[in-house]
Amino acid sequence: MICFYLVDGPDGQQMKQEPSVAETESLRPGSMFTWIPQRKAQRLRKVTASGLANPNLGALVTPVPLTLAASVYVSAISKEKRMGASILRLFFHDCFVNGCDGSILLDDTSSFTGEKNAGPNRNSVRGFNVIDDIKTAVEKVCPGVVSCADILATAARDSVNILGGPCWNVKLGRRDSTTASQAAANNSIPPPTSSLSNLISKFKAVGLSTKDMVTLSGAHTIGQARCTNFRTRIYNETNIDSSFAKTRQGSCPRTSGSGDNNLAPLDLQTPTYFDNDYFKNLIEKKGLLHSDQQLFNGGSTDSIVKKYSNNPSSFNSHFITSMINMGDISPLTGSSGQIRKNCRKVN
Ligand code: HEM
Repeated sequence: MICFYLVDGPDGQQMKQEPSVAETESLRPGSMFTWIPQRKAQRLRKVTASGLANPNLGALVTPVPLTLAASVYVSAISKEKRMGASILRLFFHDCFVNGCDGSILLDDTSSFTGEKNAGPNRNSVRGFNVIDDIKTAVEKVCPGVVSCADILATAARDSVNILGGPCWNVKLGRRDSTTASQAAANNSIPPPTSSLSNLISKFKAVGLSTKDMVTLSGAHTIGQARCTNFRTRIYNETNIDSSFAKTRQGSCPRTSGSGDNNLAPLDLQTPTYFDNDYFKNLIEKKGLLHSDQQLFNGGSTDSIVKKYSNNPSSFNSHFITSMINMGDISPLTGSSGQIRKNCRKVN
């Protein structure tokens, strides 16, 4: 199987170009975790998305299937910016449950219980149709080569970048699981009621440090949460700015069962822009979730929060490192797993 790159021709028209051996190798099923090279970057097609925070998405060298993926994805995010947040979260919930293996994408059937209905996911995670659309487009040009797990990893990166955050090379070569575990999803993904020590230990359990935990929580600079997940905080907690609590109470009734699904932005200033406001909010006691405010509550992580609130470039560069660390959790490689044809079911 040879996949081609699209490069800009002399007249600005796109031309096909055969990749070098190394580049082909990086996409061959079973070839593991080769960095996609960055050369030829300037000549590569740029996927433009007018009106979005960072239109130069295609600036990194990306093999055609994933360049195509990016263009499908840009159109999804331009329809609904929150989708970027939802896909980033999907990647987190995939990686924390037995590794980044696309297990969260498997549908339940009468004989199979997957992860979609686990507590942290049910009525909450979203974006499955977008992953399907990307997979369909990718399979058309390069069937059986790009795993659903890799599609999720690159889409998560693209989310951050499109919404104004940093960009990085995603390691490719993950394969897809043939199983999923609802029990592991319930157990491994930290709930918003977590204490600081619980957060630290859930991340440690998958090989991530306390610094990774704080840094990755900065993903809450984008996206929304449901009232049911922050009700207790805005009515009962004391380490919260009182006018912020009042504002949030306006659309999240005190009584459990009413307005449970009403949404509020995790970052009150710029919920569709990837920046360091999340950390500034924590310092002002305006974290929306109990678990958010735990990161700045007189404990060992206060200093990291302070640093990121003052230094956006330090947050951005650590975010890249931590996303790569998270993307490295227990990948399926070699002959383990498979390249699913349809992300929702095992081949
Ligand atoms: C540190 C532990 C974490 C906890 C306790 C936590 C919890 C939550 C909760 C409860 C929500 C709202 C869900 C809902 O109301 O339906 C949420 C949303 C979100 N989380 Fe986290 N999260 C954590 C870490 C992360 C990480 C590591 C990432 C990604 C790197 C992430 C990305 C997101 C995003 C982007 C959203 C918004 C999703 C959307 O708008 O659809 N979270 N999180």
